[in-house]
Amino acid sequence: MKTDILILHAAQVVTPGHGWTLQVIRDGAVAVTGDKIALIGTTRDVYPRVAVTRKTRVIEAKGKVVSPGFVDPHTHVVYAGSRASEFAQRLEGVPYMEIAKKGGGINSTVRVTRKASRKELFDSAKERLARMLAWGTTTAEVKSGYGLSLEAELKMLEVIRDLAGKQPVELVPTFLGAHEVPKEYKERRAGYIGLLLRKMIPAVGRKVLAEFCDVFCERGVFSVEESRRILLKARDWGMIPKVHADEITPLGGAELAAEVGAASADHLVYPSRKGMAAMKKAGVVPVLLPGTSFFLNSPFAPAREMITMGLPVALATDHNPGTCTLEGMPTVIGLACLKLKMTPEEALIASTRNAAKAILREEVIGSLDPGKQADILLLDIPDYREIPYRFGTNPVGMVIKKGKVVLFC
Ligand code: NIG
Ligand code: FE
Repeated sequence: MKTDILILHAAQVVTPGHGWTLQVIRDGAVAVTGDKIALIGTTRDVYPRVAVTRKTRVIEAKGKVVSPGFVDPHTHVVYAGSRASEFAQRLEGVPYMEIAKKGGGINSTVRVTRKASRKELFDSAKERLARMLAWGTTTAEVKSGYGLSLEAELKMLEVIRDLAGKQPVELVPTFLGAHEVPKEYKERRAGYIGLLLRKMIPAVGRKVLAEFCDVFCERGVFSVEESRRILLKARDWGMIPKVHADEITPLGGAELAAEVGAASADHLVYPSRKGMAAMKKAGVVPVLLPGTSFFLNSPFAPAREMITMGLPVALATDHNPGTCTLEGMPTVIGLACLKLKMTPEEALIASTRNAAKAILREEVIGSLDPGKQADILLLDIPDYREIPYRFGTNPVGMVIKKGKVVLFC
């Protein structure tokens, strides 16, 4: 078999198996042909079955872990400005929602993002994505939601589209026009919902700028009823629903996600039992964001309960300027173990295969199965459990995206 990249003698090759089992292959090998994984197994099994030529790049992985690239299924990496002053206010005890009500929060980032040029947004997001890649993220979902006008939302989505292919991280665009009611509509919110339904969703749909449509369904932001109307309209325009659900208060976001056939419901700090059961039945992936709970000093999602119920929990950074500035999945894996009480195996599966499921890419990425895209990490650690153990440090030594070495430290 023609082989372009051959990784040999890894201390461990790790990849999600069935359900919550992690397959761990000692003295492991991975063969890549073109942009796909061709073979995985022990070095002894794989080596005799591949044709090594002068063109084959042979990578010696002694003492290292080989894993699928991380998938970050919930980010807001396109924005302008900083909210360090609000962060300082929160440290003094002012709650997030109070800052938001006084014109801060999402609307303060909207003010600067509207004014920013496409180039500024492109360049700053590209830098963030380069750092995410260095932490092992090979695919990231990216939301709009700091424009909140037809023009500014299209600008954000076009920047996301332009970033695809201009840097190695594969991007999955989500329309989040319902992130907040913009300041100019505060006294007439129905007007903004009308704009979303009649102008923004059709425009995004017509230009095919987003695969998913998300809503911040939260008390004081968008109600369940409003969120339902928005998501159903987006569905008519070919976008698959996602929901920022039950983050700060229990509102019924999990139930809504199940009802509208969402790909995922995200945050879920306060989901009802009924909501979680409905999600299980409808196949909605819970995306948990422990970095946000940590950053807001607020409670953590009931991950153990979800896992016991059979839900395929996924993890993400939620990188955004207000509620979590984390960029790296290894730190999220550490927080998931320490704060969500997940095992290292569960946290790794939640950051790869289940994260791919949350963006409907499970058939293509998220594990090292032959035939899948060759998105592979070499980690400078001898055991995958060192990812959460070496909390806050970056274990990534090499990143392969679609069969190309895109980062080598
Ligand atoms: O995912 N929860 C809603 N939206 C973001 C917060 C965005 C912001 O504060 O700028 C989130 O946490
Ligand atoms: Fe978010």
